[in-house]
Amino acid sequence: LEEEALQQVEEAASVKELEAVRVKYLGKKGPITEVLRGMGKLSAEERPKVGQKANEVREAIQARLEERTKGLEEKALEEKLSSESIDVTLPGRPIKKGARHPLTAVVEEVEDIFIGMGFKVTEGPEVETDYYNFEKLNLPKDHPARDMQDSFYITPDLLLRTQTSPVQARTMEKHEGKGPVKIVCPGKVYRRDDDDATHSHQFMQIEGLYVDKDVKMSDLKGVLETFVKKYFGPDRSIRLRPSFFPFTEPSVEVDVSCGLCQGQGCRVCKHSGWIEVLGAGMVHPRVLEMSGFDPEEYSGFAFGMGVERFALLRYGIDDIRHFYTNDLRFLEQFKRS
Ligand code: PHE
Repeated sequence: LEEEALQQVEEAASVKELEAVRVKYLGKKGPITEVLRGMGKLSAEERPKVGQKANEVREAIQARLEERTKGLEEKALEEKLSSESIDVTLPGRPIKKGARHPLTAVVEEVEDIFIGMGFKVTEGPEVETDYYNFEKLNLPKDHPARDMQDSFYITPDLLLRTQTSPVQARTMEKHEGKGPVKIVCPGKVYRRDDDDATHSHQFMQIEGLYVDKDVKMSDLKGVLETFVKKYFGPDRSIRLRPSFFPFTEPSVEVDVSCGLCQGQGCRVCKHSGWIEVLGAGMVHPRVLEMSGFDPEEYSGFAFGMGVERFALLRYGIDDIRHFYTNDLRFLEQFKRS
């Protein structure tokens, strides 16, 4: 019996087969258990002999079983290790890195320039009240200039802001009539427009506001000139043209000299030598007053620019829609190493 069992232990090819052998010979229904169970029927003389023998056989089989099990387990582990080993000398696969969106890059660059001139970055809500978007900026309900900014209304009093200017009003209000207020406000704005290469119903603006005692038009010109030279290059200049905004008086349109044709005239500047980049002006006394500033004591300037326009000019992009469609072939051109 012992020999037969040991033979089968040797032949077993897996841990599972070994277990089957164990059950067969050493299990509850196996021959050894049977012998031990039948001991009661034996004579007192035979009992210790048979018992001892049975135990010896059992232990021998048991010991061999354990050895084989251990051997097989080790072999299985070794096989697993070698089949799952990692070749650390293989070259890695490159990870695709993202890039900053060109509009984000422009916003950050513009912010940095103004931070350098003492401005603070401030943000406001995109869903705005009619009150802050229009009324507080000297645009009462029936004002014809509201037509300049065709709006997305959510309720009669709530709309998607058409400009970043409401952040001016909100910030001035918080200052409770005390200057200085010196902020730039970047953000998304919305106007009803048919999208094409140069129009989008959603775009970005950066607004600037400086309110303090004795702020003059020449301060506005100086700040904008510094900004334009930092952003476009030191050889560029600006010119101011009279314009109209309800919240500034006087109002100006700001042009930057065309860097491509050096004033000779080209397609980009529509042969005029100048490119329009900003709206600006001196904060209207009524706007100051409505936001709690005494116009006798305080004055200020404000300006607003379209971020897309700055990006189009900087990178020579021909269609504003590229900014919103997230085509990787477009976006990947703005990667910096
Ligand atoms: N908010 C104006 C616009 O969207 C731009 C502007 C801002 C003009 C501040 C003057 C002063 O057209």
